[in-house]
Amino acid sequence: MFIIAANWKMNGNVNFAQTYCAELDKFINEQGVKSEIIVLPSAPLLTVVKGNFKIGGQNCHYEKSGAFTGEISAELLKNLGCDYALCGHSERRQMGESSELIAAKAEASHNAGLKAIICIGENDGEDFAKTVFAQLDKSLPFTATAANTIIAYEPVWAIGTGRTPSTKDIEERHAEIKTKSGFKVIYGGSVKPENAAEISNAANVDGLLVGGASLDIEQFKKIITARK
Ligand code: PGA
Repeated sequence: MFIIAANWKMNGNVNFAQTYCAELDKFINEQGVKSEIIVLPSAPLLTVVKGNFKIGGQNCHYEKSGAFTGEISAELLKNLGCDYALCGHSERRQMGESSELIAAKAEASHNAGLKAIICIGENDGEDFAKTVFAQLDKSLPFTATAANTIIAYEPVWAIGTGRTPSTKDIEERHAEIKTKSGFKVIYGGSVKPENAAEISNAANVDGLLVGGASLDIEQFKKIITARK
């Protein structure tokens, strides 16, 4: 199934979440949306975010429980109704998360019964293949299967910048990542209503990870319906 995930990042509050989710739920039901829609809110909003869609955490810890102040376990995400955990978003890699740590988080997600969305992507000026294949090699735990793992290809230079790779580049890069991993590959980085049709209908694109534009329900609806 085509996947469309809304990564709210550190945005939203209870009122926002309630209004947004009521609108999204209504839209999905009325339109008979076929894609798998996932909302990834800030962790405290996980009990507020409800509707005819899946929910997931933006991060989790690699241990089951323990003295890790401020962290959230994959088991608690599952307990709160999550089906997904985002692992290794570039905004977390930038804060120092290594691919090895991300693999441990993905493994914890799998062990808790969650699907891991593992993010990879090159920085501006970095060689795509060199960076992304090294990340792929180290960020995938031995527990990863095609049933429990999705790769999110997000060129770091495209996140929040309004810049995107060409459709041809996206198609080729996704093909390479798919061949190497055997998993679904979703695209993230400045997906907007204006480019959603082109990107979501491109070859080898199994879904979208949407940041900024997912915060506006009207924009997110347009992105959802962009796929033919
Ligand atoms: P963006 O973010 O859509 O705002 O570029 C994507 C992401 O970081 O997942």
